[in-house]
Amino acid sequence: MKRRGFLIGLGAVAAGGWLLRPENRGQPHDDYFQAINDHLRNAGPGRPLMLVDRQRLATNCRALMAMIPGTCQYRIVAKSLPSVALIRDVMTHTGSNRVMVFHQPFMNALAEAEPGVDMLLGKPMPIQAAKQFYTELGNDSSFDADTRLQWLIDSHARLTQYLALARTLGRRLNINIEIDVGLHRGGLTDPVQLDELISTIDANPEHLRFSGFMGYDAHVGKLPAFIQSAEEGHRESEQIYRSYIDRLYQQAPHYQHETLCFNGAGSPTIGLYDDNTPLNELSAGSCLVKATDFDLPQLADFQPAVFIAAPVIKAMDGLNLPGPLPLGDLWQQWDRNRRRTYFIYGGYWKAEPVSPAGIQANPVYGVSTNQMMFNGSTDTALNVDDQLFLRPTQSEFVLLQFGDLAVWEEGQIRDWWPPLNQGDGA
Ligand SMILES: Cc1ncc(COP(=O)(O)O)c(C=O)c1O
Repeated sequence: MKRRGFLIGLGAVAAGGWLLRPENRGQPHDDYFQAINDHLRNAGPGRPLMLVDRQRLATNCRALMAMIPGTCQYRIVAKSLPSVALIRDVMTHTGSNRVMVFHQPFMNALAEAEPGVDMLLGKPMPIQAAKQFYTELGNDSSFDADTRLQWLIDSHARLTQYLALARTLGRRLNINIEIDVGLHRGGLTDPVQLDELISTIDANPEHLRFSGFMGYDAHVGKLPAFIQSAEEGHRESEQIYRSYIDRLYQQAPHYQHETLCFNGAGSPTIGLYDDNTPLNELSAGSCLVKATDFDLPQLADFQPAVFIAAPVIKAMDGLNLPGPLPLGDLWQQWDRNRRRTYFIYGGYWKAEPVSPAGIQANPVYGVSTNQMMFNGSTDTALNVDDQLFLRPTQSEFVLLQFGDLAVWEEGQIRDWWPPLNQGDGA
Protein backbone atom coordinates (compact mmCIF):
# COMPACT_ATOMS: atom_id res chain seq x y z
CA MET A 1 0.00 0.00 0.00
CA LYS A 2 2.78 2.31 1.04
CA ARG A 3 4.80 1.40 -2.06
CA ARG A 4 1.81 2.06 -4.33
CA GLY A 5 1.34 5.47 -2.72
CA PHE A 6 4.99 6.28 -3.28
CA LEU A 7 4.79 5.34 -6.97
CA ILE A 8 1.63 7.39 -7.45
CA GLY A 9 3.37 10.33 -5.76
CA LEU A 10 6.40 9.95 -8.00
CA GLY A 11 4.18 9.78 -11.08
CA ALA A 12 2.36 12.94 -9.96
CA VAL A 13 5.66 14.77 -9.49
CA ALA A 14 6.85 13.65 -12.95
CA ALA A 15 3.55 14.69 -14.55
CA GLY A 16 3.65 18.00 -12.70
CA GLY A 17 7.23 18.56 -13.80
CA TRP A 18 6.25 17.81 -17.40
CA LEU A 19 3.37 20.28 -17.19
CA LEU A 20 5.80 22.90 -15.87
CA ARG A 21 8.02 22.54 -18.94
CA PRO A 22 9.22 25.91 -20.22
CA GLU A 23 7.27 27.20 -23.21
CA ASN A 24 8.90 27.22 -26.59
CA ARG A 25 10.22 30.79 -26.71
CA GLY A 26 12.14 30.37 -29.95
CA GLN A 27 11.50 32.52 -33.00
CA PRO A 28 13.59 33.34 -36.05
CA HIS A 29 15.14 36.82 -36.38
CA ASP A 30 12.58 39.56 -36.97
CA ASP A 31 12.92 41.74 -40.09
CA TYR A 32 15.29 44.18 -38.39
CA PHE A 33 17.83 41.56 -37.35
CA GLN A 34 17.27 39.40 -40.44
CA ALA A 35 18.38 42.31 -42.65
CA ILE A 36 21.59 42.77 -40.64
CA ASN A 37 22.10 39.00 -40.53
CA ASP A 38 21.82 38.66 -44.31
CA HIS A 39 24.10 41.62 -44.95
CA LEU A 40 26.82 40.33 -42.62
CA ARG A 41 26.46 36.79 -43.93
CA ASN A 42 27.30 38.01 -47.43
CA ALA A 43 29.41 41.11 -46.90
CA GLY A 44 30.60 41.13 -43.24
CA PRO A 45 34.17 40.47 -42.12
CA GLY A 46 33.21 37.17 -40.47
CA ARG A 47 34.18 38.12 -36.93
CA PRO A 48 32.26 39.51 -33.95
CA LEU A 49 31.32 43.14 -34.47
CA MET A 50 29.93 45.95 -32.38
CA LEU A 51 27.20 47.59 -34.45
CA VAL A 52 25.94 51.12 -33.92
CA ASP A 53 22.55 51.81 -35.50
CA ARG A 54 23.02 55.40 -36.63
CA GLN A 55 19.35 56.11 -37.29
CA ARG A 56 18.34 54.87 -33.85
CA LEU A 57 21.14 56.94 -32.33
CA ALA A 58 19.74 60.06 -34.05
CA THR A 59 16.21 59.23 -32.83
CA ASN A 60 17.52 58.78 -29.28
CA CYS A 61 19.28 62.16 -29.48
CA ARG A 62 15.95 63.79 -30.38
CA ALA A 63 14.21 61.98 -27.50
CA LEU A 64 16.89 63.18 -25.10
CA MET A 65 16.77 66.81 -26.23
CA ALA A 66 13.00 66.75 -25.75
CA MET A 67 13.60 65.86 -22.07
CA ILE A 68 16.10 68.65 -21.30
CA PRO A 69 14.40 71.63 -19.59
CA GLY A 70 14.68 74.97 -21.41
CA THR A 71 16.79 76.38 -18.56
CA CYS A 72 19.50 73.74 -19.04
CA GLN A 73 22.20 72.86 -21.55
CA TYR A 74 23.05 69.28 -22.44
CA ARG A 75 26.51 67.74 -21.83
CA ILE A 76 27.54 64.49 -23.58
CA VAL A 77 28.99 61.80 -21.28
CA ALA A 78 32.04 60.58 -23.22
CA LYS A 79 32.67 57.52 -21.05
CA SER A 80 29.40 55.94 -22.16
CA LEU A 81 29.98 56.77 -25.86
CA PRO A 82 33.67 55.86 -26.10
CA SER A 83 34.60 56.92 -29.63
CA VAL A 84 35.46 60.37 -30.96
CA ALA A 85 33.44 59.71 -34.12
CA LEU A 86 30.44 58.55 -32.08
CA ILE A 87 30.61 61.68 -29.93
CA ARG A 88 30.96 63.83 -33.02
CA ASP A 89 27.73 62.32 -34.37
CA VAL A 90 25.97 63.00 -31.06
CA MET A 91 27.28 66.59 -31.15
CA THR A 92 25.71 67.02 -34.58
CA HIS A 93 22.35 65.57 -33.55
CA THR A 94 22.08 67.38 -30.23
CA GLY A 95 23.77 70.67 -31.16
CA SER A 96 25.89 70.38 -27.99
CA ASN A 97 29.65 70.97 -27.96
CA ARG A 98 29.88 70.14 -24.25
CA VAL A 99 31.50 66.84 -23.34
CA MET A 100 32.13 65.28 -19.93
CA VAL A 101 35.48 63.49 -20.06
CA PHE A 102 36.96 60.80 -17.84
CA HIS A 103 40.22 59.63 -19.40
CA GLN A 104 43.35 61.63 -20.25
CA PRO A 105 44.22 59.97 -23.62
CA PHE A 106 40.65 60.55 -24.73
CA MET A 107 40.81 64.22 -23.67
CA ASN A 108 43.84 64.77 -25.90
CA ALA A 109 42.28 62.87 -28.80
CA LEU A 110 39.08 64.91 -28.52
CA ALA A 111 40.96 68.23 -28.18
CA GLU A 112 42.82 67.44 -31.37
CA ALA A 113 39.81 66.18 -33.34
CA GLU A 114 37.28 68.77 -32.12
CA PRO A 115 39.09 71.88 -30.86
CA GLY A 116 35.77 73.70 -30.46
CA VAL A 117 34.65 71.26 -27.77
CA ASP A 118 33.98 72.35 -24.17
CA MET A 119 35.27 69.79 -21.65
CA LEU A 120 34.32 69.18 -18.04
CA LEU A 121 36.02 66.40 -16.11
CA GLY A 122 33.63 63.76 -14.73
CA LYS A 123 36.08 62.71 -12.04
CA PRO A 124 39.04 64.39 -10.34
CA MET A 125 42.20 63.58 -12.31
CA PRO A 126 45.46 62.72 -10.57
CA ILE A 127 47.78 65.69 -11.00
CA GLN A 128 50.13 63.53 -13.11
CA ALA A 129 47.29 63.00 -15.62
CA ALA A 130 46.69 66.76 -15.79
CA LYS A 131 50.41 67.30 -16.45
CA GLN A 132 50.36 64.61 -19.12
CA PHE A 133 47.36 66.30 -20.77
CA TYR A 134 49.22 69.62 -21.13
CA THR A 135 52.44 67.91 -22.26
CA GLU A 136 50.58 66.10 -25.05
CA LEU A 137 48.55 69.20 -25.92
CA GLY A 138 51.65 71.27 -26.58
CA ASN A 139 51.63 75.02 -27.15
CA ASP A 140 50.31 75.26 -30.68
CA SER A 141 47.08 73.27 -30.24
CA SER A 142 43.89 74.87 -31.60
CA PHE A 143 42.12 73.73 -28.43
CA ASP A 144 42.11 76.66 -25.99
CA ALA A 145 42.34 74.78 -22.69
CA ASP A 146 42.28 78.00 -20.65
CA THR A 147 38.72 78.75 -21.73
CA ARG A 148 37.36 75.36 -22.80
CA LEU A 149 38.38 72.96 -20.04
CA GLN A 150 37.17 72.66 -16.45
CA TRP A 151 39.15 70.45 -14.09
CA LEU A 152 37.21 68.75 -11.31
CA ILE A 153 38.44 69.35 -7.76
CA ASP A 154 37.18 67.42 -4.74
CA SER A 155 39.41 68.72 -1.93
CA HIS A 156 41.63 71.61 -0.90
CA ALA A 157 44.70 69.35 -1.08
CA ARG A 158 44.00 68.65 -4.76
CA LEU A 159 43.35 72.34 -5.43
CA THR A 160 46.84 73.12 -4.07
CA GLN A 161 48.36 70.60 -6.51
CA TYR A 162 46.51 72.20 -9.44
CA LEU A 163 47.59 75.68 -8.33
CA ALA A 164 51.23 74.55 -8.36
CA LEU A 165 50.75 73.09 -11.86
CA ALA A 166 49.10 76.30 -13.09
CA ARG A 167 52.08 78.31 -11.81
CA THR A 168 54.57 75.96 -13.49
CA LEU A 169 52.70 76.09 -16.78
CA GLY A 170 51.93 79.79 -16.61
CA ARG A 171 48.27 79.03 -17.22
CA ARG A 172 44.92 79.90 -15.65
CA LEU A 173 42.96 76.69 -14.88
CA ASN A 174 39.18 76.54 -14.60
CA ILE A 175 38.16 74.83 -11.39
CA ASN A 176 34.84 73.05 -11.07
CA ILE A 177 34.12 71.72 -7.58
CA GLU A 178 32.66 68.28 -7.00
CA ILE A 179 29.86 68.30 -4.43
CA ASP A 180 28.20 65.31 -2.76
CA VAL A 181 24.45 65.56 -3.39
CA GLY A 182 23.77 62.20 -1.74
CA LEU A 183 25.74 59.69 -3.83
CA HIS A 184 28.59 59.64 -1.27
CA ARG A 185 31.27 59.10 -3.90
CA GLY A 186 33.40 61.96 -2.69
CA GLY A 187 33.42 65.70 -3.19
CA LEU A 188 32.49 68.35 -0.63
CA THR A 189 30.10 67.15 2.03
CA ASP A 190 29.24 70.51 3.62
CA PRO A 191 28.78 73.92 1.95
CA VAL A 192 31.06 75.44 4.61
CA GLN A 193 33.99 73.56 3.04
CA LEU A 194 33.53 75.81 0.02
CA ASP A 195 34.92 78.85 1.83
CA GLU A 196 38.50 77.61 1.95
CA LEU A 197 38.50 76.57 -1.71
CA ILE A 198 36.91 79.77 -2.96
CA SER A 199 39.29 81.94 -0.96
CA THR A 200 42.32 80.09 -2.42
CA ILE A 201 40.89 80.47 -5.92
CA ASP A 202 40.08 84.15 -5.42
CA ALA A 203 43.54 84.77 -3.98
CA ASN A 204 45.14 83.43 -7.18
CA PRO A 205 43.22 85.00 -10.05
CA GLU A 206 46.14 84.70 -12.44
CA HIS A 207 46.22 80.96 -12.11
CA LEU A 208 42.77 79.78 -11.03
CA ARG A 209 39.19 80.58 -11.96
CA PHE A 210 36.14 79.10 -10.23
CA SER A 211 33.82 77.73 -12.94
CA GLY A 212 31.01 75.89 -11.15
CA PHE A 213 29.84 72.72 -9.44
CA MET A 214 29.35 69.09 -10.44
CA GLY A 215 26.93 67.06 -8.32
CA TYR A 216 26.10 63.60 -9.70
CA ASP A 217 22.90 61.97 -8.48
CA ALA A 218 23.26 58.29 -9.46
CA HIS A 219 21.79 57.25 -6.10
CA VAL A 220 18.39 58.81 -6.90
CA GLY A 221 15.71 56.23 -7.69
CA LYS A 222 17.87 53.32 -6.50
CA LEU A 223 16.08 52.82 -3.17
CA PRO A 224 12.86 50.79 -2.84
CA ALA A 225 9.94 53.21 -3.29
CA PHE A 226 8.61 52.63 0.25
CA ILE A 227 11.90 54.00 1.62
CA GLN A 228 12.25 56.91 -0.81
CA SER A 229 10.66 57.60 -4.19
CA ALA A 230 12.77 58.87 -7.07
CA GLU A 231 10.94 62.22 -6.87
CA GLU A 232 11.73 62.59 -3.15
CA GLY A 233 15.36 61.60 -3.70
CA HIS A 234 15.58 64.10 -6.54
CA ARG A 235 14.07 66.93 -4.48
CA GLU A 236 16.50 66.17 -1.68
CA SER A 237 19.57 66.17 -3.93
CA GLU A 238 18.45 69.42 -5.61
CA GLN A 239 18.04 70.93 -2.15
CA ILE A 240 21.62 69.98 -1.28
CA TYR A 241 22.81 71.40 -4.60
CA ARG A 242 20.99 74.67 -3.91
CA SER A 243 22.65 74.96 -0.50
CA TYR A 244 26.09 75.08 -2.18
CA ILE A 245 24.97 77.78 -4.63
CA ASP A 246 23.47 79.79 -1.74
CA ARG A 247 26.69 79.50 0.26
CA LEU A 248 28.75 80.58 -2.76
CA TYR A 249 26.62 83.67 -3.44
CA GLN A 250 26.56 84.53 0.26
CA GLN A 251 30.33 84.28 0.72
CA ALA A 252 31.39 85.60 -2.67
CA PRO A 253 28.49 87.65 -4.13
CA HIS A 254 30.50 88.67 -7.22
CA TYR A 255 29.90 85.17 -8.60
CA GLN A 256 26.22 86.03 -9.09
CA HIS A 257 27.30 88.03 -12.13
CA GLU A 258 29.48 85.33 -13.66
CA THR A 259 28.55 82.54 -16.02
CA LEU A 260 29.03 79.38 -14.02
CA CYS A 261 28.46 75.74 -14.87
CA PHE A 262 26.13 73.92 -12.46
CA ASN A 263 26.29 70.38 -13.79
CA GLY A 264 24.50 67.22 -12.67
CA ALA A 265 22.23 64.30 -13.63
CA GLY A 266 22.74 61.13 -15.66
CA SER A 267 20.58 59.02 -17.95
CA PRO A 268 18.32 57.50 -15.26
CA THR A 269 17.51 60.84 -13.59
CA ILE A 270 17.42 63.33 -16.45
CA GLY A 271 13.63 63.10 -16.76
CA LEU A 272 13.22 64.30 -13.17
CA TYR A 273 14.58 67.79 -13.90
CA ASP A 274 12.32 70.73 -14.82
CA ASP A 275 12.64 74.48 -15.27
CA ASN A 276 12.79 75.03 -11.51
CA THR A 277 16.08 73.23 -11.12
CA PRO A 278 19.05 75.21 -9.74
CA LEU A 279 21.27 73.33 -12.25
CA ASN A 280 21.95 74.81 -15.67
CA GLU A 281 23.53 71.80 -17.31
CA LEU A 282 22.54 68.10 -17.44
CA SER A 283 24.73 65.18 -18.47
CA ALA A 284 23.74 61.89 -20.10
CA GLY A 285 25.29 59.38 -22.45
CA SER A 286 24.16 55.82 -21.86
CA CYS A 287 20.54 56.40 -22.83
CA LEU A 288 21.67 57.24 -26.39
CA VAL A 289 22.89 53.70 -27.05
CA LYS A 290 20.80 52.04 -24.34
CA ALA A 291 22.61 48.96 -23.07
CA THR A 292 20.41 46.56 -21.07
CA ASP A 293 21.28 48.15 -17.69
CA PHE A 294 19.30 51.15 -18.99
CA ASP A 295 16.08 49.22 -19.71
CA LEU A 296 14.30 51.41 -17.18
CA PRO A 297 10.69 52.68 -17.27
CA GLN A 298 11.90 56.30 -17.26
CA LEU A 299 13.96 55.61 -20.42
CA ALA A 300 11.12 53.93 -22.35
CA ASP A 301 11.39 56.51 -25.16
CA PHE A 302 14.90 55.34 -26.06
CA GLN A 303 15.69 52.42 -28.38
CA PRO A 304 18.66 50.05 -28.15
CA ALA A 305 21.19 51.33 -30.68
CA VAL A 306 24.22 49.06 -30.13
CA PHE A 307 24.41 45.33 -30.74
CA ILE A 308 27.07 42.66 -30.86
CA ALA A 309 26.79 40.49 -33.98
CA ALA A 310 28.65 37.19 -33.57
CA PRO A 311 28.86 34.62 -36.38
CA VAL A 312 27.54 31.13 -35.66
CA ILE A 313 30.42 28.73 -36.30
CA LYS A 314 28.67 25.45 -35.50
CA ALA A 315 24.96 24.52 -35.37
CA MET A 316 23.84 21.11 -34.10
CA ASP A 317 20.60 19.32 -33.32
CA GLY A 318 20.05 18.41 -29.69
CA LEU A 319 22.04 19.19 -26.60
CA ASN A 320 25.10 17.04 -26.30
CA LEU A 321 26.82 17.61 -22.97
CA PRO A 322 30.12 15.86 -22.17
CA GLY A 323 30.15 12.94 -19.67
CA PRO A 324 28.54 9.51 -19.25
CA LEU A 325 25.09 10.71 -18.09
CA PRO A 326 22.38 11.51 -20.67
CA LEU A 327 21.84 14.88 -19.00
CA GLY A 328 21.74 16.92 -22.21
CA ASP A 329 19.27 14.53 -23.78
CA LEU A 330 16.88 14.66 -20.81
CA TRP A 331 17.24 18.41 -20.55
CA GLN A 332 16.35 19.07 -24.18
CA GLN A 333 13.40 16.65 -23.90
CA TRP A 334 12.08 18.70 -21.02
CA ASP A 335 13.00 22.18 -22.34
CA ARG A 336 12.31 22.75 -26.03
CA ASN A 337 14.54 25.81 -25.85
CA ARG A 338 17.56 23.48 -25.54
CA ARG A 339 16.96 21.47 -28.72
CA ARG A 340 19.53 23.23 -30.86
CA THR A 341 23.15 23.90 -29.93
CA TYR A 342 25.16 26.76 -31.39
CA PHE A 343 28.80 27.68 -30.93
CA ILE A 344 29.55 31.27 -31.79
CA TYR A 345 32.74 33.16 -32.65
CA GLY A 346 33.78 34.66 -29.31
CA GLY A 347 31.58 35.11 -26.27
CA TYR A 348 31.48 35.81 -22.55
CA TRP A 349 31.03 39.53 -23.10
CA LYS A 350 29.03 41.65 -20.65
CA ALA A 351 26.01 41.17 -22.91
CA GLU A 352 22.63 39.41 -23.19
CA PRO A 353 21.46 37.49 -26.28
CA VAL A 354 18.61 39.34 -27.98
CA SER A 355 18.02 37.66 -31.34
CA PRO A 356 16.87 35.14 -32.35
CA ALA A 357 14.36 35.15 -29.49
CA GLY A 358 14.66 32.37 -26.93
CA ILE A 359 18.42 31.86 -27.28
CA GLN A 360 20.28 31.37 -24.02
CA ALA A 361 23.74 30.47 -22.78
CA ASN A 362 24.26 27.06 -21.18
CA PRO A 363 25.20 27.41 -17.50
CA VAL A 364 26.19 23.73 -17.21
CA TYR A 365 28.49 23.67 -20.25
CA GLY A 366 30.08 26.93 -19.12
CA VAL A 367 31.33 30.08 -20.75
CA SER A 368 34.08 30.73 -23.30
CA THR A 369 35.64 33.85 -24.79
CA ASN A 370 36.69 31.76 -27.80
CA GLN A 371 33.64 29.67 -28.81
CA MET A 372 30.69 30.03 -26.51
CA MET A 373 27.73 27.63 -26.46
CA PHE A 374 24.17 28.89 -26.81
CA ASN A 375 20.98 26.83 -26.98
CA GLY A 376 17.66 27.55 -28.64
CA SER A 377 14.53 25.83 -29.89
CA THR A 378 14.32 24.51 -33.45
CA ASP A 379 12.26 27.64 -34.26
CA THR A 380 15.34 29.83 -33.80
CA ALA A 381 16.27 28.71 -37.33
CA LEU A 382 19.95 29.65 -37.11
CA ASN A 383 22.52 28.07 -39.40
CA VAL A 384 26.27 28.20 -39.69
CA ASP A 385 27.36 31.69 -40.86
CA ASP A 386 24.20 33.32 -39.52
CA GLN A 387 24.61 35.86 -36.71
CA LEU A 388 23.66 35.76 -33.07
CA PHE A 389 22.88 39.25 -31.77
CA LEU A 390 23.53 40.37 -28.21
CA ARG A 391 22.95 43.62 -26.36
CA PRO A 392 25.77 44.90 -24.13
CA THR A 393 24.73 45.28 -20.49
CA GLN A 394 26.70 48.57 -20.39
CA SER A 395 28.44 50.59 -23.08
CA GLU A 396 31.55 52.11 -21.54
CA PHE A 397 33.66 48.95 -21.48
CA VAL A 398 31.95 46.61 -23.96
CA LEU A 399 32.17 49.06 -26.87
CA LEU A 400 35.96 48.92 -26.57
CA GLN A 401 36.23 45.16 -27.15
CA PHE A 402 35.58 44.83 -30.90
CA GLY A 403 37.96 47.15 -32.73
CA ASP A 404 36.27 49.75 -34.94
CA LEU A 405 32.53 50.16 -34.40
CA ALA A 406 30.48 49.10 -37.44
CA VAL A 407 28.05 51.88 -38.30
CA TRP A 408 24.77 50.37 -39.53
CA GLU A 409 22.78 52.76 -41.69
CA GLU A 410 20.21 52.27 -44.43
CA GLY A 411 20.71 48.54 -44.74
CA GLN A 412 24.49 48.40 -44.79
CA ILE A 413 27.66 49.14 -42.85
CA ARG A 414 28.35 52.69 -43.99
CA ASP A 415 31.31 53.57 -41.79
CA TRP A 416 33.79 52.33 -39.20
CA TRP A 417 34.34 54.41 -36.06
CA PRO A 418 37.55 53.82 -34.06
CA PRO A 419 36.86 53.38 -30.34
CA LEU A 420 38.60 55.28 -27.57
CA ASN A 421 42.35 54.79 -27.45
CA GLN A 422 43.28 53.54 -23.98
CA GLY A 423 46.72 55.14 -24.09
CA ASP A 424 49.94 54.63 -26.01
CA GLY A 425 52.48 54.86 -23.21
CA ALA A 426 53.81 58.13 -21.90
C1 LIG B 1 29.91 62.42 -13.16
C2 LIG B 1 28.93 61.68 -14.02
N1 LIG B 1 27.90 62.36 -14.55
C3 LIG B 1 26.99 61.75 -15.33
C4 LIG B 1 27.07 60.41 -15.59
C5 LIG B 1 25.96 59.79 -16.38
O1 LIG B 1 26.31 59.05 -17.47
P1 LIG B 1 25.24 58.11 -18.18
O2 LIG B 1 24.14 58.95 -18.71
O3 LIG B 1 26.03 57.47 -19.26
O4 LIG B 1 24.75 57.14 -17.17
C6 LIG B 1 28.12 59.66 -15.05
C7 LIG B 1 28.23 58.23 -15.29
O5 LIG B 1 28.96 57.51 -14.67
C8 LIG B 1 29.08 60.32 -14.24
O6 LIG B 1 30.10 59.66 -13.65
